[in-house]
Amino acid sequence: MKIYRFDTEHLATVYVAAIIESLMATKANPVLGLATGATTVNLYRQLVEFHQQGLSFSHVTTVNLDEYVGLPAGHPQSYHQFMHCHLFEHLDIPADQTFLLNGVTTDVAAECERYDRIISSYPIDLQILGIGRNGHIGFNEPDISLKTLTHVITLSPDTIAANARFFSEPKAVPTQAITMGIQSILQAKVIILMAFGRNKAHSVKRALSGEVSTRVPASFLQMHPNVTFVLDKEAAIELGTETFFQLSRS
Ligand code: GLP
Repeated sequence: MKIYRFDTEHLATVYVAAIIESLMATKANPVLGLATGATTVNLYRQLVEFHQQGLSFSHVTTVNLDEYVGLPAGHPQSYHQFMHCHLFEHLDIPADQTFLLNGVTTDVAAECERYDRIISSYPIDLQILGIGRNGHIGFNEPDISLKTLTHVITLSPDTIAANARFFSEPKAVPTQAITMGIQSILQAKVIILMAFGRNKAHSVKRALSGEVSTRVPASFLQMHPNVTFVLDKEAAIELGTETFFQLSRS
């Protein structure tokens, strides 16, 4: 487990974008596991800048973590739309190399199985994660047990409240999502969890310094052999100084 603390979110995102570029340069057909949410916006902007400077993504495959149940791909707050607007429409990845969950499927079980087959067929080289204020990764919410593979989950009140900022009103936030399971996330060869801002500091602390617990799904990352937490100063504020490699002037 590596913990990198950067002075700013900008430096942190440039660092993660450079790791993605390096993977793309060394692997013929890299598979990226991608997340959504505010944490990833600047990372995707950086990747788009790389593309505008000549970096091709045509050999990349992407697999997204999750999607809201009930939002069609064209809904402004669907994760399909998020990925399209922030990344895919600006890059040269063929559409059939981008995999997302269908939030309006009429057969949820079949959709989960379809996704697990995709994850098996395209083993993820690098999984990008954010973290919820409650310690969730993907939409694996704190509970007495966690599901290993792709599944439907009822969102916690805290997650609904946190994500309400993207919707017209809290009542418009879907109450369920489909998400890759914990085991699927942990199967990625390399995992980078990004967290920025003071409101992530407590979940980062609990993920890193507590016991591995289903009450803090991100704590399961402690069991993975190649995880890096990429933080800004605020997100790292509750960590002891012994814990991290500091890419910082202070
Ligand atoms: C969302 C997503 C996660 C994301 C997390 C943090 O609900 N399901 O994949 O990492 O919560 O989101 P944000 O980056 O907007 O804080």
